[in-house]
Amino acid sequence: MDFDPQALSAVDDPYPVFDELRENHPVFHSAGRDLWVVSRYEDVRAMLLDAETYASGMGTVPTGFVSHKPMLITQDAPYHTHLRDAVHKAFAPSRMRALNGFIRSTTQSLLDAIDPEAETDLFGTLTDPLPVAVVTEILGIGFEDRKEFSSYAGAVIHAVEGQSPTAEEGMLWIYAYLEKMLPDREAEPGNDLVSELLHPAPGVPQLDHDEVVGFCSLLLMAGTETTTNGLGNAVALLERHPELRRRLVKEPKAIPGAIEEFLRLESPVPGLSRVTTRDVELQGQAIPKGSRVHMAFAAANRDERAFPDAQLLDPSRSPNPHLAFSLGVHFCLGARLARTEMRIVLEELLARFPEYEVIPERWVRLQSDAARGFSFLPFIGRPG
Ligand code: HEM
Repeated sequence: MDFDPQALSAVDDPYPVFDELRENHPVFHSAGRDLWVVSRYEDVRAMLLDAETYASGMGTVPTGFVSHKPMLITQDAPYHTHLRDAVHKAFAPSRMRALNGFIRSTTQSLLDAIDPEAETDLFGTLTDPLPVAVVTEILGIGFEDRKEFSSYAGAVIHAVEGQSPTAEEGMLWIYAYLEKMLPDREAEPGNDLVSELLHPAPGVPQLDHDEVVGFCSLLLMAGTETTTNGLGNAVALLERHPELRRRLVKEPKAIPGAIEEFLRLESPVPGLSRVTTRDVELQGQAIPKGSRVHMAFAAANRDERAFPDAQLLDPSRSPNPHLAFSLGVHFCLGARLARTEMRIVLEELLARFPEYEVIPERWVRLQSDAARGFSFLPFIGRPG
């Protein structure tokens, strides 16, 4: 048996293959890809917590990804620790809470623009634009530039072969935009994250311009498509679970628990890779130093050993230590923000369109080995 992560995420239901891997080949060597796949919860968790043995480096990002700037996610200690210390405070809960009003009002105006009687693509009208609006708001990018910024970000995020602008052009445009912005923010700091990174509080490391640009462009990649996919997966799962949807309409307080289950059962980042820095043995398999090892979050998050009745969508599951946001030194910096975005969108969507319909026969899943979500979600609001 060989394993091809690309084929896995391309199919409608990759989970039987994940189940087979987890139960019968928990550490699987795919000769074709020269990749080890680890799929049991405890093993994936142990890998995430041992960053010395399982290094990030360029192993973390999809093959073919190009970055010309230092990026948090592809670095290891001690440089990763330095970068993370520098950006950590800028992502403090107080800054994130201050975004709640923006997230709600943006969601409301995106929903206002939807004709409830007509079919619309919810990806284009809501799940895609909202996370980009949030990141540009964090960066303090003016409203007048947001559209252009978002279209170049789209080129980077949804890199499509032969498309113009290309992902590379999009990235360079974003770098140039951010670089041009820095001297102004240096001279006249505002309330935004860029100004805070340029003027760190005492004791917080100072980043250079390349590092600031690298971090801001990482936010665009790590903070947008992931959240878009989290939202799309939630909407689709609620289509499949009408009884849960009815409950959430009546009892919005249950939404956060449901979101954890959406993230566990349909993890937007189904897996990531690391590179071994020494020879290791896992589940009786010898993995040599320098090997690429793939952590299959999507398989681990359905492991019965960690989640009783793992296939069941149970919003009251507690604890729910899923790995959708990773764990350890690279734990998602935007987890709190992503959860807030998902909560506010679901609150607003269910309040306005409790009877919405999405059409599973025509929705289009992303064809990607790095992301699980939708690129087209035919939606009809059907107001009550
Ligand atoms: C549902 C939405 C999201 C999911 C599923 C998700 C998932 C992840 C995962 C799995 C990692 C870990 C990478 C690793 O272990 O190597 C990560 C890292 C990261 N995420 Fe998220 N993310 C989401 C939303 C966001 C948002 C909204 C932001 C910010 C605007 C963000 C910013 C980051 C950053 C900066 C890192 C790198 C952290 C580091 O390497 O130290 N993410 N995310």
